[in-house]
Amino acid sequence: MAKASETSNGSQPTIGEPYYCQECKRNHTKGKIYKEHLNFAKFGVEDKSSDIEAGDTQLEDSNVTEDEESFPEDEEYLPEDEYLPGEMDEDEVQNENGEDEDFDNEDLPLNIGESECVDAVKKLPGVGEATLKKLIKAGFSSLESIAYTPPSIIQEESGLGDKTTAKLIKASMEKLDIGFKSAEAVWEHRKNIARITTGSQELDNLFGGGIETGCVIELFGEFRTGKTQLAHQLCVNVQLPKEDGGLEGNALYIDTEGTFRPERIIQMAEGLDLDHKKVLKNIVFGRAYNSDHQVLLIKEATNLIREKNIKLIVVDSLIGHFRSEYVGRGTLANRQQTINAHLHDLLRLTDIFPELSVIVTNQVQSKPDVFYGNPTVAAGGNIVAHGSTIRVYLRKGKGEQRVAKMIDAPHLPEGEAVFSITENGIND
Ligand code: GTP
Ligand code: MG
Repeated sequence: MAKASETSNGSQPTIGEPYYCQECKRNHTKGKIYKEHLNFAKFGVEDKSSDIEAGDTQLEDSNVTEDEESFPEDEEYLPEDEYLPGEMDEDEVQNENGEDEDFDNEDLPLNIGESECVDAVKKLPGVGEATLKKLIKAGFSSLESIAYTPPSIIQEESGLGDKTTAKLIKASMEKLDIGFKSAEAVWEHRKNIARITTGSQELDNLFGGGIETGCVIELFGEFRTGKTQLAHQLCVNVQLPKEDGGLEGNALYIDTEGTFRPERIIQMAEGLDLDHKKVLKNIVFGRAYNSDHQVLLIKEATNLIREKNIKLIVVDSLIGHFRSEYVGRGTLANRQQTINAHLHDLLRLTDIFPELSVIVTNQVQSKPDVFYGNPTVAAGGNIVAHGSTIRVYLRKGKGEQRVAKMIDAPHLPEGEAVFSITENGIND
């Protein structure tokens, strides 16, 4: 199959350069996210009434009063020159060729009124049908997604004006009660932070009692050091009951390298005496074909996380596509900027869903100028290092053994743990 992101002459496009997308048969601009691309980018899950338990929707009883509900529609709330209700901004109704497209008749990714989160957004002061459509189309279908996203991103992706965006963010923050809190309150929260067991006691100890939620964890190391195996194991373990070290939640696996193996999931599930059919059903799988697609899958994940009670996201690997698509020194700045934004999308998800853990794997690149010590460093440079909250380096030991080294964590000491990769998965 031809790579989705190739220019007509077969080379990889640079940011801002047009290319023909082989998957959806349209012209695109590198680095832009295409909403009309949704069907191509969607995860392979259609069945909304699935056996997966619905997530705990924090917004179930959004405390919106009657008064707020009857707040005037857009036209009274927005300055006239911003836009009229039901009317789309010019840049929204044109594709990259400048041709008009009738976005209004297009199906929205989410059935309006179906979700309670959307209802909460609908009840924000000043949100009428037109604004709601723009927000949903851009993926902002919950109060959290609006409150935690920088205004510039909401503006850019939804096409709303700066005043409207600022008001929406402020109102969402008020509804969610976001603001300063005491360090004691933070400590109360951290004491009760949920964790996922890795299957190895030693490795759990290294992480301070298991993989913690509410943060992005980077596993980096050379090939065959167990990054993918550990990621598979966590997809199984996250489903365990809380007393067994799980979160009674489901997993979302974004595979960029084609190395996801259901066979291994079955072996790992059987190792824990779990019904492997159920375990497989509870893992949502998304294959990212290129870096744009990878970014888009994460941008589209918010609704999925809520609907499918996702408690773990795996991106294996984080920068593989970026490394192969952005070749040469000249593309470095663009590449780093895009990876940075992608990492921040992931971090934002852990703000929106505090009981969510994000695992990213990363390759190492050799450092030819190092003669003593370890000549390998994580790929992606400072951007990835600063973007992830906890970083662990994996290396090979004897036989099935692997060694994990805590490289960076805000509250954990540097240390090492030895674990094994066996037929039934990760253990001591
Ligand atoms: P790259 O993606 O290539 O960078 O490597 P990785 O770090 O993701 O490696 P991965 O997690 O795929 O580890 C592969 C290793 O896991 C293999 O080389 C085996 O040593 C081990 N492994 C995989 N399956 C089994 C199994 O069924 N039994 C045992 N004992 N080991 C296994
Ligand atoms: Mg791997």
